[in-house]
Amino acid sequence: MGVGRPLNVLLVGSGGREHAIAWKLRQSDNLGRLFTAPGNAGTAELGENIPVRDTDISGLLASARNLDIGLTFVGPEAPLAAGVVDAFTADGRLIFGPTRAAARLESSKVWAKQFMSRHGIPTAKATAFRSAVDALAYIDRMPENDAVIKADGLAAGKGVVVANSKTEAREAVRAVFSGGLPSDAVSQVLVEQKLSGPEVSVFAFVDGEHVSAEVAACDYKRVGDGDTGPNTGGMGAYSPPEFWTPDLASRIRREILEPAASGMVNDGSLYHGVLYAGLMVTRDGPRVIEFNCRLGDPEAQVVLPQLDCDLLELALAVAERRLPGTAVRWQSRPHVGVVLASGGYPGKYETGFEIEGLEKAAPAIVFHAGTKRADGKLLTSGGRVLSIVAAGSTVTEARLAACAAAAKISFKNAIFRRDIGLRAGPQVVRGVTVPRPGSR
Ligand code: AMP
Ligand code: GLY
Repeated sequence: MGVGRPLNVLLVGSGGREHAIAWKLRQSDNLGRLFTAPGNAGTAELGENIPVRDTDISGLLASARNLDIGLTFVGPEAPLAAGVVDAFTADGRLIFGPTRAAARLESSKVWAKQFMSRHGIPTAKATAFRSAVDALAYIDRMPENDAVIKADGLAAGKGVVVANSKTEAREAVRAVFSGGLPSDAVSQVLVEQKLSGPEVSVFAFVDGEHVSAEVAACDYKRVGDGDTGPNTGGMGAYSPPEFWTPDLASRIRREILEPAASGMVNDGSLYHGVLYAGLMVTRDGPRVIEFNCRLGDPEAQVVLPQLDCDLLELALAVAERRLPGTAVRWQSRPHVGVVLASGGYPGKYETGFEIEGLEKAAPAIVFHAGTKRADGKLLTSGGRVLSIVAAGSTVTEARLAACAAAAKISFKNAIFRRDIGLRAGPQVVRGVTVPRPGSR
């Protein structure tokens, strides 16, 4: 099925994920003009950025009307949770992503737990509390090192504490109820059983009951090599994981992805868009840690280069409810993505530093995140600045290529992890040293 005529697209978001989406959309013969709201210096090279915030729904809608947009593609979760899909649909506009009600799979951890329990989807046991006193009493009765504390709403990665003792669990509960998080994240807390095993992000396109072929990636959340330091939005990713077998994939499909899609149909909140299952592969099988309602960042940067079909066609097929007739294929070619971040991230960091050496990174792909152009110069403008993505015949080869490319790019105080994908392959490749990031 074809788009038929060039289609103008509005892409919502401004991160590395959105640059990767824009890059993949650009490969379509049917893409007309591409606008990104608000975008970054990378998306500006592939289309036009428009100065509209990603959660400014009326601004986005006005832009779609003025710019003759045929399809809107939503990258991040915040606009989905705010109802951008509902608003566009009510206006008769095609948009890719789940409605506000369906996005509760991500925007309310309590709702998502109840959903999983209703539909028999395997997940960590958890109990929800509306008061600190009750949660604290419950923690007293738990084994010492067993609690994960989760604030209910969207908290930009800050709502989860994997506690190493009851003292840490208690502190986390008190922190949730003492107002340190965005207001929509404080009304309830989940106390969840701690699981262990490798973690994996699994993505599929979903259109009602129909679930496309899935793809998997592993994300690195901690800022430092060897999983040290604080949690971040993600410092890199690789795909496919070394433990990703056809058996595991089909078990996840059967036990998690398909029941989630049909559960949403049964509950009357049909899901359309990318479903992201964050899983832990425990000794008892895969368990859901969280559902998200979008592509991951930085996972998108390593999975979209493996998508062996036209993303514009695919997104349009989901928006027009005809995914079952559309083939979705993923190459299984190792990709590693390394995030170059501003030193100090995820805490305080400075921006406005000139970025140099991008032209030396090829054949690695450079996806922008926190970048902007001023007076012809490319400058840092955020914590995560760039994702450098390389392919190889093994994850090790891809990792070495991504690290070597990342080291050719420089800006003041640049940091990156050199161990993205290391666990998938040999610890050291003899004779090859991975250079340190350039800095001036
Ligand atoms: P989330 O925001 O739900 O993705 O959680 C952030 C991170 O906390 C996850 O990526 C896991 O590494 C960890 N985590 C969340 N829930 C659990 C759990 N039940 N057991 C162990 N680790 C967890
Ligand atoms: N990579 C984690 C996320 O996108 O939520």
